Amino acid sequence: RTRELIGRLAVEHRLDLKEYEELVEGFTPEIAAYAAGRAVELRTRVYGTDVYIRGLIEISSYCKNDCLYCGLRRSNRMAERYRLDAGEILACCDAGYELGFRTFVLQGGEDTAFTDEVACGIVSSIKEAHPDCALTLSLGERNRGSYQALFDAGADRYLLRHETADPAHYARLHPADLSWDRRMACLRDLKDIGYQVGCGFMVGSPFQTPATLAADLKFIEEFRPAMVGIGPFVPHHATPFAHEPAGTADMTCYLLSLLRLIGPELLLPATTALGTIDPCGRERGMQAGANVVMPNLSPTDVRKKYELYDNKACAGSEAAEGLTDLSRRMEAIGYRVVVDRGDAKRRMEAG
Ligand code: 5AD
Repeated sequence: RTRELIGRLAVEHRLDLKEYEELVEGFTPEIAAYAAGRAVELRTRVYGTDVYIRGLIEISSYCKNDCLYCGLRRSNRMAERYRLDAGEILACCDAGYELGFRTFVLQGGEDTAFTDEVACGIVSSIKEAHPDCALTLSLGERNRGSYQALFDAGADRYLLRHETADPAHYARLHPADLSWDRRMACLRDLKDIGYQVGCGFMVGSPFQTPATLAADLKFIEEFRPAMVGIGPFVPHHATPFAHEPAGTADMTCYLLSLLRLIGPELLLPATTALGTIDPCGRERGMQAGANVVMPNLSPTDVRKKYELYDNKACAGSEAAEGLTDLSRRMEAIGYRVVVDRGDAKRRMEAG
């Protein structure tokens, strides 16, 4: 039955909510291997064996939010805070360009110092210096006018994980001043404006169930984002979820495969969190259907301070300067890291 559902998803790219729930509940190593095979088949048809890379620049560890799972939450008084200035960010992009990156991702906590004026200035100077590069922003919730201004300044893509498609689950992961409705409204605004939008969620977050995961898959099927970022929940010692169990690489890879079946053309990163809980996480992600890796381009002295969760990987293949290492590891499993903006391909219907 589960195999039959996977077979149908691989052809129709949609299922009912209840069927998604059955798929999640039907997880076994054998089923996951079957789903991965079908996922790799689709991914290869659309993207071949190309691995797209993004240079991830963590521009600020200040955050006004208090998400219960995140090490950067405002109540964490132990967190060391830093903020990069425009010159430092541009220097990261210049270094990344030399290494072969053609997409830069500016990611940060919700830091009020990055006003529209400041952020738009940074966006336009990066695009001016590197017009052949795509620029992705991941700066959390902002108002529509702000998203529009950043888009007009030259930003191409925006990552905003929806975190969970179940409002009740959302309320258990966030303090009362954060609203699921507002987050969903942000995602709609971003899409309306014309961004290539990425959403996503943690795998194994506290209170997650097969039903909430089914809602995530249904939401992604219907919203049709260009990208989906998922990674295991990893506890951070200075948060209310310090003693909650981490998500698993197995379930993360299975969900990557299901996402690939939903969206053959999706940009799906094998995330840092996956690489953190499993030394072969990046490879396993590719072999489950992912096609993107986001090595860390932040200045080395700030990397440890961007601590979303404990032991976050930022060395070796996780690091931009480890790109030859990453390329070698990808080649060892039959993939090829390419110098390319790595835009999403258009949906190919049938065939
Ligand atoms: N474990 C895994 N992922 C986390 N994130 C935040 N905290 C954690 C954690 N403890 C993810 C969230 C957020 C993104 C920036 O990082 O999904 O959207």
